[in-house]
Amino acid sequence: MQLKTPNRDERFLSLKGAVQINHSSFFVYEDKDGRKFLKTGEDEKLHKSLVQRMIDSNPHIARILKRFRIKPLIDTKTLNELTCGHMNETCNIAVGVYSLLSGDIKEQVDKAALKEASMLHDLGKVLIPSKILNKPSKLNIKERKIMNIHSTLGYELLKTQGVNEDVLNLIKYHHQNLKHTGYPALPTENTSSDIGVQIISIADKYSALREARVYRRRLSRTEALLILYREVREGKIMPAIYNALFKYAEIYDNQ
Ligand SMILES: [Fe+2]
Ligand SMILES: [Fe+2]
Repeated sequence: MQLKTPNRDERFLSLKGAVQINHSSFFVYEDKDGRKFLKTGEDEKLHKSLVQRMIDSNPHIARILKRFRIKPLIDTKTLNELTCGHMNETCNIAVGVYSLLSGDIKEQVDKAALKEASMLHDLGKVLIPSKILNKPSKLNIKERKIMNIHSTLGYELLKTQGVNEDVLNLIKYHHQNLKHTGYPALPTENTSSDIGVQIISIADKYSALREARVYRRRLSRTEALLILYREVREGKIMPAIYNALFKYAEIYDNQ
């Protein structure tokens, strides 16, 4: 795989996934001859045209945007920030939590899919209006509903790119939990991705709580762990997964 983009027609590129090298995230692109190469999130022009092609190749996306009255504006600045920051950090935490789980639980998870999905999980935010994404106060019901479609949008954007089905499902359900009270609703037959979903979900939340957001300060390690412990008590996260996060935080998150 090449690190630099050769001078080629960007209209024929597709996004195949993401990889982490030296703790930095890169998107994996493929050209029309099947050659793969890597790009950071910084090339806003490339990402704008790529996301536009993703929208054009899946009419379901236009239907979702229309239903929620969202203009199809592509926020590549947010995508770049998420790629370098929150999505990359979620991947570090998810892999760390995975590595601290017992063998019988690990066996139920596809580590490569977990890693890739963590790095791409909030891709759908590229279509969420920035006034909602960056609102400094609590979202109202309508804004919350719009915010909550980002996981479905991420899934729909990547669906036509040839991304692995397990990765797609982890992205779609990264806001789900053991009690199935998250979003979007899980199909009734789906239980197989529960462990992977819980790992990506706890890693996502922990990463978010440990960052300052426009609407709140950065929480301490103890505050973040206490908030997530509530989810164990409510039966939304398996204690074993929470314990692995607790160990992860003790070992690796000591600032
Ligand atoms: Fe999310
Ligand atoms: Fe996230």
